[in-house]
Amino acid sequence: MYSPREDTFLMNKALHFYDSEFGLVGKKVLEVGCGNCYNSFFCAEKGAKVFALDVDPAALEVSKKEAKKKRLDIIFIQSDMFSSLQEKDFDLIFFNPPYLPSDDIKDITVDGLEKGRHFIDIFLKGFKKFLKQDGVVLLLHADYNDLEATEKKLSKAGFSSEIIGKDSFFFERLYILQITRKSKQ
Ligand SMILES: C[S@@+](CC[C@H](N)C(=O)[O-])C[C@H]1O[C@@H](n2cnc3c(N)ncnc32)[C@H](O)[C@@H]1O
Repeated sequence: MYSPREDTFLMNKALHFYDSEFGLVGKKVLEVGCGNCYNSFFCAEKGAKVFALDVDPAALEVSKKEAKKKRLDIIFIQSDMFSSLQEKDFDLIFFNPPYLPSDDIKDITVDGLEKGRHFIDIFLKGFKKFLKQDGVVLLLHADYNDLEATEKKLSKAGFSSEIIGKDSFFFERLYILQITRKSKQ
């Protein structure tokens, strides 16, 4: 299972920001690719109703046990991206995707095929149906994931995006995109 690391912590900062701006208490939150659930646990501890989704049953089992120990009431969903998700109307959806460019998907926690965009593109096609009208999406990107392509796709689909977090490491730069529906004039 993927251990929490710099991308997890950058997402956590963005969640702190969301909490201070909108408040997590009572919010309906979905983490896609929850894995270790570091950030799902954070949202649940802040009073959100959390749905944690991952394709990997082993990771879900470990996180389920951890949630029980922490006495956190989280709903775990095994799903290949949005394919088995029944719930809708989320206030917040967040995703720290497998984002490394690769020729193949050997490690589902990190490999993202061309430009690392495979799961990012599936996410961008799928999230709209599950987001409330005034909902917010937080999506992690690396500099080699073609941020511009994401911004164009979002704009075409009626969404605005804004970088609300970034951090640099010696081999990559990471961003958090905050995505909302464009307001009607
Ligand atoms: C970069 S890790 C992030 C883990 C954790 N959320 C974090 O921030 O530390 C990506 C996660 O996406 C999950 N994942 C990979 N392919 C998936 C798919 N098709 N559907 C849902 N989750 C998937 C992996 O199992 C892994 O837990």
